[in-house]
Amino acid sequence: MSKWVQGKVVGHRHWTDRLHSLQVAAPEVTFVAGQFGRLALPAPPGAKEEMLGRPYSFVNAPGTQPHEFYFVTVPEGPLSARLAALVPGDAVWLLRGANGFFTASELPDAEVLWCLSTGTGLGPFLSILRTAEPWAKFQRVVLVLAVRQAGELTYGEVIAGIAAAHAGAFVYIPMVSREAHPGALAGRIPDAIRDGRLESRAGLALAADNSHAMLCGNPQMVDDVQNALQARGMRRHRRREPGQVTVETYW
Ligand SMILES: Cc1cc2nc3c(=O)[nH]c(=O)nc-3n(C[C@H](O)[C@H](O)[C@H](O)COP(=O)(O)OP(=O)(O)OC[C@H]3O[C@@H](n4cnc5c(N)ncnc54)[C@H](O)[C@@H]3O)c2cc1C
Ligand SMILES: NC(=O)c1ccc[n+]([C@@H]2O[C@H](COP(=O)([O-])OP(=O)(O)OC[C@H]3O[C@@H](n4cnc5c(N)ncnc54)[C@H](OP(=O)(O)O)[C@@H]3O)[C@@H](O)[C@H]2O)c1
Repeated sequence: MSKWVQGKVVGHRHWTDRLHSLQVAAPEVTFVAGQFGRLALPAPPGAKEEMLGRPYSFVNAPGTQPHEFYFVTVPEGPLSARLAALVPGDAVWLLRGANGFFTASELPDAEVLWCLSTGTGLGPFLSILRTAEPWAKFQRVVLVLAVRQAGELTYGEVIAGIAAAHAGAFVYIPMVSREAHPGALAGRIPDAIRDGRLESRAGLALAADNSHAMLCGNPQMVDDVQNALQARGMRRHRRREPGQVTVETYW
Protein backbone atom coordinates (compact mmCIF):
# COMPACT_ATOMS: atom_id res chain seq x y z
CA MET A 1 0.00 0.00 0.00
CA SER A 2 1.39 3.43 -0.91
CA LYS A 3 2.27 5.55 2.09
CA TRP A 4 0.61 8.51 0.36
CA VAL A 5 -3.12 9.17 0.56
CA GLN A 6 -4.64 11.18 -2.28
CA GLY A 7 -6.58 14.15 -0.96
CA LYS A 8 -8.68 16.68 -2.85
CA VAL A 9 -8.32 20.45 -2.52
CA VAL A 10 -11.76 21.80 -1.56
CA GLY A 11 -10.80 25.36 -0.66
CA HIS A 12 -7.94 27.82 -1.04
CA ARG A 13 -7.87 31.15 0.78
CA HIS A 14 -5.36 33.77 -0.34
CA TRP A 15 -4.80 35.98 2.72
CA THR A 16 -1.99 38.02 1.09
CA ASP A 17 0.12 37.42 -2.00
CA ARG A 18 2.33 35.12 0.14
CA LEU A 19 0.00 33.64 2.79
CA HIS A 20 -2.37 30.82 1.94
CA SER A 21 -4.73 28.38 3.61
CA LEU A 22 -5.43 25.16 1.80
CA GLN A 23 -8.43 23.00 2.67
CA VAL A 24 -7.97 19.36 1.78
CA ALA A 25 -10.52 16.54 2.01
CA ALA A 26 -8.72 13.38 3.16
CA PRO A 27 -10.86 11.62 5.80
CA GLU A 28 -8.43 8.71 6.29
CA VAL A 29 -5.70 11.07 7.58
CA THR A 30 -5.74 11.46 11.38
CA PHE A 31 -3.78 13.58 13.85
CA VAL A 32 -3.66 14.98 17.38
CA ALA A 33 -4.04 18.79 17.73
CA GLY A 34 -0.60 20.44 17.43
CA GLN A 35 0.88 17.73 15.21
CA PHE A 36 2.09 18.09 11.65
CA GLY A 37 1.36 15.96 8.62
CA ARG A 38 3.11 15.89 5.26
CA LEU A 39 1.78 17.43 2.04
CA ALA A 40 3.22 16.29 -1.27
CA LEU A 41 2.97 16.68 -5.04
CA PRO A 42 4.57 14.51 -7.71
CA ALA A 43 8.30 15.27 -7.89
CA PRO A 44 9.69 16.85 -11.06
CA PRO A 45 11.03 14.44 -13.70
CA GLY A 46 14.50 13.13 -12.85
CA ALA A 47 14.07 13.56 -9.07
CA LYS A 48 15.26 10.73 -6.79
CA GLU A 49 11.96 10.44 -4.94
CA GLU A 50 8.58 9.90 -6.54
CA MET A 51 6.94 12.66 -4.45
CA LEU A 52 8.10 16.07 -3.20
CA GLY A 53 6.81 16.37 0.37
CA ARG A 54 7.18 18.80 3.29
CA PRO A 55 5.78 18.90 6.85
CA TYR A 56 2.79 21.19 7.58
CA SER A 57 0.88 21.68 10.84
CA PHE A 58 -2.83 20.87 10.93
CA VAL A 59 -4.95 23.97 11.61
CA ASN A 60 -8.35 22.27 11.86
CA ALA A 61 -9.48 20.46 14.99
CA PRO A 62 -8.94 16.67 15.05
CA GLY A 63 -11.93 14.71 13.81
CA THR A 64 -13.09 17.51 11.52
CA GLN A 65 -12.99 17.72 7.72
CA PRO A 66 -11.60 19.16 5.58
CA HIS A 67 -8.06 19.34 6.89
CA GLU A 68 -6.55 22.81 6.77
CA PHE A 69 -2.95 23.96 6.34
CA TYR A 70 -1.65 27.54 6.66
CA PHE A 71 1.52 28.29 4.74
CA VAL A 72 3.72 31.00 3.30
CA THR A 73 5.32 30.85 -0.12
CA VAL A 74 9.06 30.81 0.37
CA PRO A 75 11.10 32.54 -2.36
CA GLU A 76 12.51 29.78 -4.59
CA GLY A 77 11.03 27.07 -2.35
CA PRO A 78 10.29 24.00 -4.48
CA LEU A 79 6.97 22.95 -2.88
CA SER A 80 5.31 26.02 -1.33
CA ALA A 81 4.95 27.86 -4.69
CA ARG A 82 3.33 24.78 -6.22
CA LEU A 83 0.92 24.42 -3.29
CA ALA A 84 0.04 28.10 -3.72
CA ALA A 85 -1.07 27.40 -7.30
CA LEU A 86 -3.56 24.64 -6.35
CA VAL A 87 -7.26 25.24 -6.94
CA PRO A 88 -10.37 23.38 -5.72
CA GLY A 89 -10.66 20.02 -7.43
CA ASP A 90 -6.87 19.49 -7.65
CA ALA A 91 -5.19 16.48 -6.07
CA VAL A 92 -2.62 16.78 -3.28
CA TRP A 93 -1.07 13.89 -1.36
CA LEU A 94 -0.76 13.43 2.41
CA LEU A 95 0.81 10.92 4.74
CA ARG A 96 -1.84 8.85 6.48
CA GLY A 97 -0.54 9.66 9.97
CA ALA A 98 0.88 12.68 11.75
CA ASN A 99 3.92 13.39 13.93
CA GLY A 100 5.15 15.65 16.68
CA PHE A 101 5.01 16.25 20.40
CA PHE A 102 3.78 19.85 20.24
CA THR A 103 0.50 18.76 21.83
CA ALA A 104 -1.47 19.65 24.96
CA SER A 105 -1.12 16.13 26.40
CA GLU A 106 2.68 16.58 26.53
CA LEU A 107 2.40 19.71 28.70
CA PRO A 108 2.72 19.72 32.48
CA ASP A 109 0.00 21.47 34.49
CA ALA A 110 0.33 25.23 34.98
CA GLU A 111 -1.94 28.17 35.65
CA VAL A 112 -1.32 30.03 32.38
CA LEU A 113 -0.52 28.68 28.90
CA TRP A 114 1.32 31.18 26.66
CA CYS A 115 1.02 30.32 22.94
CA LEU A 116 3.70 32.43 21.22
CA SER A 117 3.80 32.42 17.40
CA THR A 118 5.33 34.24 14.47
CA GLY A 119 3.74 34.09 11.01
CA THR A 120 2.45 30.67 10.00
CA GLY A 121 3.48 29.34 13.44
CA LEU A 122 -0.07 30.35 14.40
CA GLY A 123 -1.44 27.19 12.74
CA PRO A 124 -0.98 24.48 15.40
CA PHE A 125 -2.30 26.79 18.14
CA LEU A 126 -5.60 27.20 16.28
CA SER A 127 -5.98 23.43 16.24
CA ILE A 128 -4.99 23.02 19.91
CA LEU A 129 -7.27 25.86 21.10
CA ARG A 130 -10.24 24.34 19.25
CA THR A 131 -10.01 21.23 21.45
CA ALA A 132 -11.14 20.92 25.09
CA GLU A 133 -7.79 19.84 26.52
CA PRO A 134 -5.97 23.17 27.06
CA TRP A 135 -9.06 24.68 28.69
CA ALA A 136 -9.26 21.80 31.15
CA LYS A 137 -5.53 21.92 31.92
CA PHE A 138 -4.94 25.70 32.21
CA GLN A 139 -6.97 28.44 33.88
CA ARG A 140 -5.92 31.06 31.34
CA VAL A 141 -4.58 30.92 27.78
CA VAL A 142 -2.73 33.75 26.02
CA LEU A 143 -2.28 33.62 22.23
CA VAL A 144 0.34 35.93 20.70
CA LEU A 145 0.64 36.30 16.92
CA ALA A 146 3.66 38.38 15.80
CA VAL A 147 3.91 39.48 12.15
CA ARG A 148 5.70 42.10 10.06
CA GLN A 149 2.65 43.83 8.54
CA ALA A 150 -0.91 44.21 9.89
CA GLY A 151 -2.29 42.45 6.77
CA GLU A 152 -0.59 39.28 8.05
CA LEU A 153 -2.78 39.18 11.21
CA THR A 154 -4.86 36.35 9.78
CA TYR A 155 -7.59 34.03 11.13
CA GLY A 156 -9.40 36.85 12.96
CA GLU A 157 -12.75 35.02 12.77
CA VAL A 158 -11.39 31.76 14.19
CA ILE A 159 -9.65 33.65 17.01
CA ALA A 160 -12.87 35.57 17.74
CA GLY A 161 -14.69 32.22 17.91
CA ILE A 162 -12.17 30.88 20.42
CA ALA A 163 -12.52 34.09 22.47
CA ALA A 164 -16.33 33.79 22.47
CA ALA A 165 -16.20 30.12 23.50
CA HIS A 166 -13.77 30.82 26.37
CA ALA A 167 -14.66 34.32 27.57
CA GLY A 168 -12.63 35.29 30.63
CA ALA A 169 -10.07 32.54 30.07
CA PHE A 170 -8.56 33.73 26.78
CA VAL A 171 -6.41 36.72 25.80
CA TYR A 172 -5.32 37.41 22.21
CA ILE A 173 -2.35 39.73 21.67
CA PRO A 174 -1.48 40.71 18.09
CA MET A 175 2.00 42.16 17.44
CA VAL A 176 3.15 44.02 14.31
CA SER A 177 6.86 44.79 13.88
CA ARG A 178 7.21 46.86 10.71
CA GLU A 179 4.34 49.35 10.86
CA ALA A 180 2.19 50.96 13.53
CA HIS A 181 -1.18 49.23 13.96
CA PRO A 182 -3.89 50.20 16.44
CA GLY A 183 -4.52 47.49 19.02
CA ALA A 184 -1.29 45.62 18.26
CA LEU A 185 1.88 45.68 20.34
CA ALA A 186 4.88 47.00 18.40
CA GLY A 187 8.16 45.12 17.90
CA ARG A 188 9.20 41.54 18.64
CA ILE A 189 8.05 39.00 21.25
CA PRO A 190 11.40 38.68 23.16
CA ASP A 191 11.61 42.47 23.66
CA ALA A 192 7.99 42.60 24.84
CA ILE A 193 8.79 39.85 27.37
CA ARG A 194 11.94 41.60 28.64
CA ASP A 195 10.34 45.03 29.03
CA GLY A 196 7.14 43.65 30.62
CA ARG A 197 4.72 44.82 27.87
CA LEU A 198 3.47 41.30 27.14
CA GLU A 199 2.57 40.60 30.76
CA SER A 200 0.99 43.98 31.25
CA ARG A 201 -1.14 43.60 28.09
CA ALA A 202 -2.23 40.08 29.20
CA GLY A 203 -2.74 41.14 32.81
CA LEU A 204 -0.90 37.97 33.80
CA ALA A 205 2.54 37.09 35.13
CA LEU A 206 4.89 35.11 32.89
CA ALA A 207 6.99 33.19 35.42
CA ALA A 208 8.35 29.72 36.09
CA ASP A 209 5.93 29.10 38.96
CA ASN A 210 2.70 29.86 37.07
CA SER A 211 3.30 29.51 33.32
CA HIS A 212 4.03 27.15 30.46
CA ALA A 213 5.11 28.65 27.12
CA MET A 214 4.69 26.99 23.71
CA LEU A 215 6.72 28.61 20.90
CA CYS A 216 6.16 28.05 17.19
CA GLY A 217 7.47 29.67 14.01
CA ASN A 218 10.72 31.40 13.05
CA PRO A 219 13.63 29.44 14.62
CA GLN A 220 15.46 32.67 15.54
CA MET A 221 12.37 33.86 17.40
CA VAL A 222 12.22 30.49 19.17
CA ASP A 223 15.88 30.88 20.26
CA ASP A 224 15.51 34.51 21.33
CA VAL A 225 12.32 33.85 23.30
CA GLN A 226 13.94 30.87 25.02
CA ASN A 227 16.78 33.18 26.11
CA ALA A 228 14.31 35.76 27.42
CA LEU A 229 12.44 33.04 29.32
CA GLN A 230 15.64 31.50 30.66
CA ALA A 231 16.33 34.83 32.37
CA ARG A 232 13.03 34.19 34.22
CA GLY A 233 14.11 30.70 35.29
CA MET A 234 12.03 28.93 32.59
CA ARG A 235 13.70 26.06 30.74
CA ARG A 236 12.87 23.50 28.01
CA HIS A 237 10.32 20.89 29.01
CA ARG A 238 11.30 17.29 28.44
CA ARG A 239 9.46 14.15 29.48
CA ARG A 240 12.33 13.11 31.77
CA GLU A 241 13.13 16.60 32.94
CA PRO A 242 10.02 18.74 33.30
CA GLY A 243 10.33 22.41 32.39
CA GLN A 244 8.16 25.33 31.31
CA VAL A 245 8.95 25.77 27.59
CA THR A 246 7.88 23.62 24.60
CA VAL A 247 9.02 24.47 21.06
CA GLU A 248 8.37 23.74 17.39
CA THR A 249 10.55 25.24 14.66
CA TYR A 250 9.59 25.40 10.98
CA TRP A 251 13.01 25.62 9.36
C1 LIG B 1 7.53 20.36 11.88
C2 LIG B 1 7.33 21.36 10.76
C3 LIG B 1 6.07 21.90 10.54
C4 LIG B 1 5.90 22.85 9.52
N1 LIG B 1 4.68 23.42 9.36
C5 LIG B 1 4.54 24.45 8.47
C6 LIG B 1 3.31 25.15 8.36
O1 LIG B 1 2.30 24.81 9.00
N2 LIG B 1 3.26 26.19 7.49
C7 LIG B 1 4.36 26.58 6.73
O2 LIG B 1 4.27 27.57 5.98
N3 LIG B 1 5.51 25.91 6.82
C8 LIG B 1 5.63 24.87 7.65
N4 LIG B 1 6.81 24.19 7.71
C9 LIG B 1 7.84 24.47 6.67
C10 LIG B 1 7.48 23.64 5.42
O3 LIG B 1 7.67 22.27 5.67
C11 LIG B 1 8.33 23.99 4.17
O4 LIG B 1 9.70 23.99 4.51
C12 LIG B 1 7.95 25.35 3.58
O5 LIG B 1 6.59 25.35 3.16
C13 LIG B 1 8.81 25.69 2.35
O6 LIG B 1 8.77 24.62 1.45
P1 LIG B 1 9.55 24.73 0.07
O7 LIG B 1 9.66 23.36 -0.53
O8 LIG B 1 8.90 25.77 -0.79
O9 LIG B 1 11.01 25.23 0.49
P2 LIG B 1 12.08 24.50 1.46
O10 LIG B 1 13.14 23.91 0.57
O11 LIG B 1 11.39 23.53 2.37
O12 LIG B 1 12.62 25.70 2.28
C14 LIG B 1 13.48 26.66 1.73
C15 LIG B 1 13.84 27.67 2.82
O13 LIG B 1 12.71 28.48 3.13
C16 LIG B 1 12.70 28.88 4.51
N5 LIG B 1 11.41 28.48 5.12
C17 LIG B 1 10.86 27.23 5.18
N6 LIG B 1 9.63 27.28 5.76
C18 LIG B 1 9.39 28.55 6.06
C19 LIG B 1 8.31 29.21 6.66
N7 LIG B 1 7.18 28.57 7.07
N8 LIG B 1 8.39 30.55 6.84
C20 LIG B 1 9.50 31.21 6.42
N9 LIG B 1 10.58 30.65 5.85
C21 LIG B 1 10.53 29.33 5.67
C22 LIG B 1 13.91 28.20 5.14
O14 LIG B 1 14.99 29.12 5.16
C23 LIG B 1 14.21 27.05 4.19
O15 LIG B 1 15.55 26.66 4.22
C24 LIG B 1 7.01 23.23 8.70
C25 LIG B 1 8.25 22.64 8.92
C26 LIG B 1 8.43 21.73 9.92
C27 LIG B 1 9.80 21.14 10.14
N1 LIG C 1 6.56 39.36 5.39
C1 LIG C 1 7.00 39.85 4.24
O1 LIG C 1 6.58 40.94 3.82
C2 LIG C 1 8.01 39.10 3.37
C3 LIG C 1 8.25 39.54 2.08
C4 LIG C 1 9.13 38.80 1.26
C5 LIG C 1 9.74 37.65 1.73
N2 LIG C 1 9.52 37.25 3.02
C6 LIG C 1 10.19 36.01 3.46
O2 LIG C 1 9.22 35.07 3.88
C7 LIG C 1 9.67 34.35 5.03
C8 LIG C 1 8.66 34.43 6.12
O3 LIG C 1 8.39 35.78 6.45
P1 LIG C 1 7.37 36.16 7.60
O4 LIG C 1 7.24 37.65 7.59
O5 LIG C 1 6.14 35.33 7.48
O6 LIG C 1 8.12 35.62 8.91
P2 LIG C 1 9.28 36.24 9.80
O7 LIG C 1 10.37 36.83 8.98
O8 LIG C 1 9.61 35.15 10.74
O9 LIG C 1 8.58 37.47 10.59
C9 LIG C 1 7.44 37.28 11.43
C10 LIG C 1 7.65 38.05 12.73
O10 LIG C 1 8.72 37.44 13.45
C11 LIG C 1 9.60 38.46 13.88
N3 LIG C 1 10.94 37.96 14.09
C12 LIG C 1 11.91 37.72 13.18
N4 LIG C 1 13.04 37.30 13.77
C13 LIG C 1 12.78 37.30 15.10
C14 LIG C 1 13.56 36.99 16.24
N5 LIG C 1 14.83 36.59 16.15
N6 LIG C 1 12.97 37.12 17.45
C15 LIG C 1 11.71 37.51 17.56
N7 LIG C 1 10.92 37.83 16.53
C16 LIG C 1 11.46 37.72 15.30
C17 LIG C 1 9.54 39.50 12.77
O11 LIG C 1 10.03 40.74 13.29
P3 LIG C 1 10.91 41.77 12.36
O12 LIG C 1 9.95 42.44 11.44
O13 LIG C 1 11.51 42.68 13.38
O14 LIG C 1 11.93 40.95 11.62
C18 LIG C 1 8.05 39.50 12.49
O15 LIG C 1 7.36 40.31 13.41
C19 LIG C 1 11.02 34.94 5.41
O16 LIG C 1 12.00 34.04 4.95
C20 LIG C 1 11.09 36.25 4.65
O17 LIG C 1 12.43 36.52 4.25
C21 LIG C 1 8.66 37.95 3.83
